[in-house]
Amino acid sequence: MESFVLILQILLCGFVCSISSAKDIITATDFLTDGKTITSSDGSFEMGFFSPASFTNNWYVGIWYKHDVPDKSVVWVANRENPFNNTSGVMLKIIDTGQLALLTPANTIMWSTNSSRPLAVKNTVAQLLNSGNLVIRDANDTKPEKFLWQSFDYPTDTLLPGMKMGKNFVTGQEFYLSSWKNEYDPAPGEYTYHCDPTGYPQDVMRKGKVKVYSTGPWNGLRWSGVPGLTKNTIYTFKLDLDEKRAFYSFALLGSVMTKLTMNNNGVLQRSMWAENRQEWHVYISSPEDTCDNYGTCGSYGSCNNILTPVCNCLDKFVPKDPRNWAMTNWSGGCIRRKPLNCQNGDGFLKYSGIKLPDTQYSWFDRSMTLHECKHACLRNCSCLAYSNLDIRNGGSGCLLWCGDLIDIRELPGGQDIYIRVATSELGSKKTKLLVLSLLLLIGVTVTGLTIGLYIWKKKKKRKMNLKDDLDLPLFTLSTLTKASSNFSVENKIGEGGFGSVYKGILEGGHEVAIKRLSKSSSQGVNEFKNEVICIAKLQHRNLVKLIGCCIAGGEKMLVYEYMCNRSLDLFIFDEKRSLLLNWPKRFGIINGIARGLLYLHQDSRLRIIHRDLKASNILLDADMNPKISDFGIARSVVGNETGANTHHVVGTHGYMSPEYVVHGVFSVKSDVFSFGVLVLEIISGRRNRGFARESHSINLLGHVWKLYKEGRPLELIDGHLMDSRYISELLRLIHVALLCVQQCPEDRPDMPTVILMLTNDAILPQAKEPGFFTESKVTSECSISMCSTNEITVTQLEPR
Ligand SMILES: *[C@@H]1O[C@H](CO)[C@@H](O)[C@H](O)[C@H]1NC(C)=O
Ligand SMILES: *[C@@H]1O[C@H](CO)[C@@H](O)[C@H](O)[C@H]1NC(C)=O
Ligand SMILES: *[C@@H]1O[C@H](CO)[C@@H](O)[C@H](O)[C@H]1NC(C)=O
Ligand SMILES: *[C@@H]1O[C@H](CO)[C@@H](O)[C@H](O)[C@H]1NC(C)=O
Ligand SMILES: *[C@@H]1O[C@H](CO)[C@@H](O)[C@H](O)[C@H]1NC(C)=O
Ligand SMILES: *[C@@H]1O[C@H](CO)[C@@H](O)[C@H](O)[C@H]1NC(C)=O
Repeated sequence: MESFVLILQILLCGFVCSISSAKDIITATDFLTDGKTITSSDGSFEMGFFSPASFTNNWYVGIWYKHDVPDKSVVWVANRENPFNNTSGVMLKIIDTGQLALLTPANTIMWSTNSSRPLAVKNTVAQLLNSGNLVIRDANDTKPEKFLWQSFDYPTDTLLPGMKMGKNFVTGQEFYLSSWKNEYDPAPGEYTYHCDPTGYPQDVMRKGKVKVYSTGPWNGLRWSGVPGLTKNTIYTFKLDLDEKRAFYSFALLGSVMTKLTMNNNGVLQRSMWAENRQEWHVYISSPEDTCDNYGTCGSYGSCNNILTPVCNCLDKFVPKDPRNWAMTNWSGGCIRRKPLNCQNGDGFLKYSGIKLPDTQYSWFDRSMTLHECKHACLRNCSCLAYSNLDIRNGGSGCLLWCGDLIDIRELPGGQDIYIRVATSELGSKKTKLLVLSLLLLIGVTVTGLTIGLYIWKKKKKRKMNLKDDLDLPLFTLSTLTKASSNFSVENKIGEGGFGSVYKGILEGGHEVAIKRLSKSSSQGVNEFKNEVICIAKLQHRNLVKLIGCCIAGGEKMLVYEYMCNRSLDLFIFDEKRSLLLNWPKRFGIINGIARGLLYLHQDSRLRIIHRDLKASNILLDADMNPKISDFGIARSVVGNETGANTHHVVGTHGYMSPEYVVHGVFSVKSDVFSFGVLVLEIISGRRNRGFARESHSINLLGHVWKLYKEGRPLELIDGHLMDSRYISELLRLIHVALLCVQQCPEDRPDMPTVILMLTNDAILPQAKEPGFFTESKVTSECSISMCSTNEITVTQLEPR
């Protein structure tokens, strides 16, 4: 009899399965077995049995994105800690108590849902919703507040839109992400990511019990330490905070899928599904640099990625343990130069542009003004700092710190904080005036002497300063001479405007690229400083890495990681080698360059404008990953500035934007222009500059514009890239590139937008006429208001 029922079930299943691909529900009479799945009604998510690796034979019940076929990205796992090793006879079904349970063939429960209010079994169903949420509910009650259980309340390593992270103060339940143990084991690993409401809410990553990263407190708009988290077209994010709960969540605005994942390597990633490439693209990852590591500089230490060393004590503070501090062991942090004296009254000093410190020991009030906040802090001797709680609308509310201040860093878009210091540190107006006039007197008398001395010592001093400032390994001249066989011609791999580049092999066989700056040029010195300051502390996989330098005997050299495939121009403009780069590879390169630029423009702590982005400055490693190099003329702009202007226009013709060449105005948008040119060169295999078509005087941009207007953009594409699978993507990229090279900087998208445009199918705006599309005529219809056009010298360097 039993076997008859089984056969009937199998027969039935055979019938049901074939029509049930859209089934999203498990009822009391149903069950899931290996090979059977349920799918949310819109087809986004699927639930069933899976094994993360073929070699382990561990099986789990999980939910994954249905579309993501090649590497099934699992977003939720039921029996994380209890895998089964044989799927035969294992069932997921609703059991007598009205719970969904995973049963062994012997009917023992391996895993089950846990509902506070069990129902009669016949009324219970489990349903996979379009959001990816698996819910247990009464068969005829679909109201969310009546759900008996939902998988969204038991997150694993992924936060989906609509899920929440944080704490329910009423029940005490906490919702947080925990990484997998490793790629093949979904059991909870060592990393967790919390929205921690202790004191005042902030997101915190822990490794075991130790904090390793914090976003800084919520400031009304975003987390204080994540300026890159900005309003965008893909998703919105918010913090819900009241007496009952503190929940962080996000929601989709359109159809682009995005998720937040706590990876098992300790990196939190926000990724987006790139429909056209059918893969996930990482949009933001944290921690991103040294200063993101929790408390890098100890208490009252301030981290700034662009400085060497990265840690400094806040103004009016000194290292607590100077010896260790000097040896770059910053864990001891800093202390006040003058101790506080609460009874006699202390004061507050304002520090600007910082990521607010850890709020674990803090107190807040939404209604107080900044003035009231100050007095509240002053009255309580254990209060050490205060700031506005919410930065919107000019600032409101009060946040007080009652423990030492830790995890401070300087960053663009940072906030103001007022830190308690001894009254004597404030300096009254009278003494200030006195000091000022005294300084003036001394200044005047000493100036003459100083100038003389300065000129006399200039050369030596510059050298000394450089050496002192650098926190880079110093190579001796003999090491590098030996490594490059005495800078032999055979080892020369490139020639830049300010010097030559040689391949070198260090003792131990480590390959490096050595840039030897020409001895005479003063620009060489500036370039050297610039390069070192700009990139020594920037770390991104799409930026070339500086390993060390050498200053000796009038020589200045920079040592980089060696890129065995040299530079991009050697591929795309070469008839034979261009065959080695198919479209997927080229697309990967374009994306890498875009991510590198995004990091420079937005994510790194000082905005950096490269100013000389071109094919020969894109280096390629063994796997053809692009790395942006040559920061010799890069400029950093501070804070919220996105540009500046210069009287000294340097760069490479063909890549420079019109407003820069004509008016000396540069901004992140000038890099976007160069990026657009670069994309068109990568697609067409032709140089912008020197592109002469028989009877026309137009350059590549002009040519693309003409084809685009005439509806024939396919003619641009390098012949061997033509492949029907890629056509729509190629056309899209041509369009994006044209948006980047538009005449007016305001019309060009910024890099975050460019990245979104590259990886999803949103509709693109119509492109306007590009800047500089003829070789001879400079069109300047777009009014550039930032500076006047007269008396500007345009210095041109030889194209290099
Ligand atoms: C499979 O799991 C069962 C119990 O769950 C255990 O007794 C058995 O040894 C396991 N077999 C293998 C091959 O691991
Ligand atoms: C799984 O279990 C079934 C019956 O319980 C058995 O016939 C089968 O050999 C097992 N498979 C493996 C791989 O152990
Ligand atoms: C189920 O919930 C009860 C109380 O609601 C709790 O005591 C028990 O530990 C929970 N069991 C599991 C497996 O979560
Ligand atoms: C709920 O569904 C059951 C059958 O599953 C039915 O008997 C009952 O009348 C329904 N209740 C309501 C209020 O619709
Ligand atoms: C770093 O400095 C702290 C005190 O400032 C000291 O306790 C610790 O031992 C030092 N660590 C190392 C590795 O020297
Ligand atoms: C000072 O602030 C701390 C922390 O908020 C609090 O515990 C203490 O009661 C306050 N002291 C006074 C005198 O208000």
